[in-house]
Amino acid sequence: MSIAVFASGDGSNFEALVERSRNLQWPQSITLLVTDKADAGALDRARKLGISAVTIRPQDYESKEAYESVLLSLLRENGIEWILLAGFMRILGPVLLKAYPWRILNVHPSLLPAFRGKNALEQALAYGVRWSGVTVHWVDEGVDTGPIIDQKPILVEPNDTVETLQRKAQFVEHNLYPAVVYKLLTGKIQPPQGTPAD
Ligand code: GAR
Repeated sequence: MSIAVFASGDGSNFEALVERSRNLQWPQSITLLVTDKADAGALDRARKLGISAVTIRPQDYESKEAYESVLLSLLRENGIEWILLAGFMRILGPVLLKAYPWRILNVHPSLLPAFRGKNALEQALAYGVRWSGVTVHWVDEGVDTGPIIDQKPILVEPNDTVETLQRKAQFVEHNLYPAVVYKLLTGKIQPPQGTPAD
């Protein structure tokens, strides 16, 4: 059994996860990258890292259910046990949530429950918070609503921009996310009770 990472963009978290999994010899390997965009930068990183990558675009399917059914077949063919969302900008539906109950994690650049959804850093700057942060959480059917596993704060300085805040957030993410996954794989974190799509 192994791990898939889902990404839509640059893939810096994907790379950080793969590097850490190799350096620490995780009990399960990251063997698959899935993107929903053919131009995702994560695809170049997968090539360099020697990890299989597949792009499946939702617009090529008639419904979310049909899209996720194709994703599910791919995951099963590849013996995937865990899914790590890393900048995957889509809300998962019941097909994947029921097939992978509490087996899907996400990283989000805010101290949830503040600033859910897209543009979390812009939202934080616009609100004028002094502290922002990063959250790793279980994925349920909502937008960044699943139970929180771990968080780290980031000080917002007066001259911070979206770009500087993003650099700070990603620096934290690249350590926090792999650390959480390692704890999960070594039994130091337990999934919640019940099913996420109830
Ligand atoms: C990350 O900062 C992640 O927290 C954010 O997208 C970025 C992807 O960067 N995710 C979200 O905003 C999810 N709501 P990456 O492609 O370089 O890993």
